[in-house]
Amino acid sequence: MSTPFSALHLTSSLLFILSFAPHHSISSTATSAAHDTMFAGQSLTINKTLVSRHGKFELGFFTPGNSRNYYIGIWFKQVAAIQKKKTVVWVANRNKPISADDSSSSEFKLLENGHLVLFMSSYDSNSSPKTTVWSTNSTTSTAMNDSSVKAVLGDDGNLVISSSSNRSTVIWQSFDHPTHAFLPGLKLGYNNLTKTGSKLTSWRNSEDPSDGIYSFEWWADRTFNIIWNHSFKFYTSGVWNGRFFSNVPEMHVGYGLMSSFEFTSYNDGSYAFTYFLSNKSLPLSTFMDTSGQTKSIVWSNEAQDWTMIWSKPLRHCQVYGVCGAFGVCRENNVDSSLCQCLSGFKQRYPKDWSLLDYSSGCVRRTTLQCGNNDSFSKMPNIRLPQISPSASALVVDVARKCESACLQNCSCSAYAYDTNSSSSGGSNIRCLLWYANLLNIEQLAGVEGNDLYIRLAPSQSRLGNSRTKSSSRWTIVVVVLSGTTILLGITILFLLKWWRRRLARRLKQESPYAFLTAFRYKDLKIATKNFSNKLGSGSFGSVFKGTLPDSTPVAVKRLEGISQDHKQFRNEVSTIGLIQHVNLVRLRGFCSEGRKILLVYDLMPNGSLDRHLFHQNHSRILNWQQRYQIAIGIARGLTYLHEECRDRIIHCDIKPENVLLDATFSPKIADFGLAKLLGREFSRVVTSMRGTVGYLAPEWTSGVAITAKADVYSYGMMLFEIISGRRNLKQSKDGKTWFFPTWASTKVISEGQPVLMILDNNLEGNADVEELDRAFRVACWCIQEEEFQRPSMGQVVQILEGLLEVNPPPILSYLRAMVETEEPANFFSEIDTSESIQGYENNN
Ligand SMILES: *[C@@H]1O[C@H](CO)[C@@H](O)[C@H](O)[C@H]1NC(C)=O
Ligand SMILES: *[C@@H]1O[C@H](CO)[C@@H](O)[C@H](O)[C@H]1NC(C)=O
Ligand SMILES: *[C@@H]1O[C@H](CO)[C@@H](O)[C@H](O)[C@H]1NC(C)=O
Ligand SMILES: *[C@@H]1O[C@H](CO)[C@@H](O)[C@H](O)[C@H]1NC(C)=O
Ligand SMILES: *[C@@H]1O[C@H](CO)[C@@H](O)[C@H](O)[C@H]1NC(C)=O
Ligand SMILES: *[C@@H]1O[C@H](CO)[C@@H](O)[C@H](O)[C@H]1NC(C)=O
Ligand SMILES: *[C@@H]1O[C@H](CO)[C@@H](O)[C@H](O)[C@H]1NC(C)=O
Ligand SMILES: *[C@@H]1O[C@H](CO)[C@@H](O)[C@H](O)[C@H]1NC(C)=O
Ligand SMILES: *[C@@H]1O[C@H](CO)[C@@H](O)[C@H](O)[C@H]1NC(C)=O
Ligand SMILES: *[C@@H]1O[C@H](CO)[C@@H](O)[C@H](O)[C@H]1NC(C)=O
Repeated sequence: MSTPFSALHLTSSLLFILSFAPHHSISSTATSAAHDTMFAGQSLTINKTLVSRHGKFELGFFTPGNSRNYYIGIWFKQVAAIQKKKTVVWVANRNKPISADDSSSSEFKLLENGHLVLFMSSYDSNSSPKTTVWSTNSTTSTAMNDSSVKAVLGDDGNLVISSSSNRSTVIWQSFDHPTHAFLPGLKLGYNNLTKTGSKLTSWRNSEDPSDGIYSFEWWADRTFNIIWNHSFKFYTSGVWNGRFFSNVPEMHVGYGLMSSFEFTSYNDGSYAFTYFLSNKSLPLSTFMDTSGQTKSIVWSNEAQDWTMIWSKPLRHCQVYGVCGAFGVCRENNVDSSLCQCLSGFKQRYPKDWSLLDYSSGCVRRTTLQCGNNDSFSKMPNIRLPQISPSASALVVDVARKCESACLQNCSCSAYAYDTNSSSSGGSNIRCLLWYANLLNIEQLAGVEGNDLYIRLAPSQSRLGNSRTKSSSRWTIVVVVLSGTTILLGITILFLLKWWRRRLARRLKQESPYAFLTAFRYKDLKIATKNFSNKLGSGSFGSVFKGTLPDSTPVAVKRLEGISQDHKQFRNEVSTIGLIQHVNLVRLRGFCSEGRKILLVYDLMPNGSLDRHLFHQNHSRILNWQQRYQIAIGIARGLTYLHEECRDRIIHCDIKPENVLLDATFSPKIADFGLAKLLGREFSRVVTSMRGTVGYLAPEWTSGVAITAKADVYSYGMMLFEIISGRRNLKQSKDGKTWFFPTWASTKVISEGQPVLMILDNNLEGNADVEELDRAFRVACWCIQEEEFQRPSMGQVVQILEGLLEVNPPPILSYLRAMVETEEPANFFSEIDTSESIQGYENNN
């Protein structure tokens, strides 16, 4: 078999061979001595291993988990000693295990012809010839008879077969045949001569290294991709642009430990990609996991366990088919496993499930009869399957027609519908139908998501929405009653009409969504006691405290000087009303009458973040734990706006004044969606504000399109203020500007001073230094001038949660040019960069 990268690997192999030191041979009695070399004619048997020179890797027979099958593999030696569990990075015979019975007669032997072969002789007939279970198939020359052939296990985890009579010949190396792991220094890529790309395949489950359902493939178009069942691509890295893969911009920021990336292009269109470690002795592995995610894990000495530092796709539930057919994925589910079966279904192979391989999915407890008498069970808060090859959509006028459309086709297994918010008719219902196996259902927390209706056999219906079963006796009753029903119907219609008119008169306008109330101006005037209790005012208007008739306290924001097309306004406001997240302030309703435009929000008892950070009256000092949780909460809310909600939203005005704190000091972002609501008006107001060096990203003034990265910038600025408890910007009477982030990054990064020095003095050094360091680093990365250097909000969350490592940031050179680096003694006034104070706080 020709190795796809023999040409590409020449240089690295050469270096490797040149670095050979005198090696020891395996003595026939030693079982665990640190021998890294096998010579021609020698073999490994069940209890013998090869150990790389500095003891990082070990090669030999292993049995994964509780399995009774034996495999030849390479694993991290020190970690295995601590964990009593091998983290395997390469498997020779992954699809051809040796049974426990045959294991003692098996040997892994290096032949004079340069082949490494795994032999096995059957347990019951020791006399019979040995069978070859696995072989390297080295092609160099089968006729070769060279006693100087040897196999060496390197400290990089590469097993190399070479001939010492010819130093330039690597006969075979395991790095050319990776199985599931991508170790530092290993090269993956595409060979345009043979038209083959590198491919790593997941293990089937934690105890079975055979080819699983997910693969990590490197394609001719310079992308890497994650593929489900050899057919469906559900993740792509985007193309290499010279610095990073376009969908992995954080590569540019770096991951701390993975210090450098190397992409080599060849003239014939081939390429090879690799990465290196900043500290070669750290155990780190990137691999295609059974979970369907490609992950990088590093060994943490502190935790004495592996820590994940990178994963694609980011979230486990984003993996295609992760829970199999009719399985439901639930992220961060502490009390139960990632996947569960829909009600009415059971695990197809419970044994696989117990080994965390859910891909076989679930099967019906009762088979469908496939008649019109099947029923549907409603599942609320579902993220509908986005990528489904077997779905169809239609538009109907009443929701009921969705159900009957599904019933009409025997293979239809579920439906969902959605009123099209942007359609002017109001009664267009988009109906989605799924056929056969239903994959990629995600259960969301809280009130997000859609209702999904799952088809079940009649006996399976639990939720009482099954259709009535007709029998002849009932038919008679129905016939008798139908006359009465018609009469009743007419009466009800009249009543309804009257009721609607009454309702319309009461509310004046109907709300597009049941959970968003359309208030009358008159009522809001009463609720706010004629707008008497003002909580704050800002660029877009003032905020007043109010109390609804049911005594719910609310904050009413009166938008001033805004002209709006009412219909458009109502459309926009209804989409904002749909956005609900634990870290976003909830919009309760609105009012739009003539030129009067008001928004009604939940009132937050602890007011806005700035009061607590900058110690205004009635405020208390937030401790470090609270600040860190607030920082994470805001990042989660923004991640939701940017990445997860249906209409992706850029906030455009992130600052402490727009973060409100509830009774438990949990943060809630206010004023999201205003940019969309107010359109051009909004950016005019925002950009005309003074103090652009405050929270506004440089792109606001440079005229380029605003992206979510503008919010990341503002978030970074605010994070500095959360850490330091003071405004970032100070100005002296002679007009000199002092800028805290520049000062902080100069002190900590270039002068190497402890990060505690930037902490709010009021905390007297009481902070988790590791968290503080993370927060500081991520804040620095967020306020980089170049948008692509800033992380996404999702990454910020991961970094703050400790799931993602972050490199030390560079000095903020572009800001340094503008400001003093030392804080002169005569600086005093902190600039209040907030023009619009929109805290809906409770003044009482
Ligand atoms: C390998 O070692 C285990 C325990 O360390 C022992 O039980 C077993 O008999 C050994 N097998 C061989 C073939 O030496
Ligand atoms: C070696 O060759 C044999 C026969 O051609 C094939 O069955 C086997 O899969 C090959 N082994 C590897 C590791 O490629
Ligand atoms: C290889 O050469 C040695 C002597 O150099 C010889 O004894 C042995 O039989 C040869 N093996 C094969 C397979 O040709
Ligand atoms: C060494 O290997 C190279 C490349 O495979 C080959 O061209 C050369 O003939 C070999 N030399 C000897 C002495 O075998
Ligand atoms: C994977 O694809 C094959 C056909 O290519 C199909 O038979 C098999 O059922 C699929 N596996 C799953 C889990 O859907
Ligand atoms: C790959 O090779 C083909 C010829 O086999 C050539 O047409 C193509 O341009 C090459 N691809 C690249 C990216 O150079
Ligand atoms: C590299 O990592 C090893 C093992 O974790 C550690 O002992 C050593 O101190 C590290 N070296 C440096 C320079 O960080
Ligand atoms: C459902 O309908 C089919 C015919 O469509 C009928 O044969 C079957 O008995 C019905 N089952 C129940 C439980 O009503
Ligand atoms: C049911 O739907 C599937 C998928 O759209 C389609 O292939 C099939 O022809 C439909 N069957 C009937 C009876 O309409
Ligand atoms: C609503 O329907 C219109 C056409 O009727 C379509 O263009 C639009 O994409 C739909 N919106 C949603 C959210 O489905």
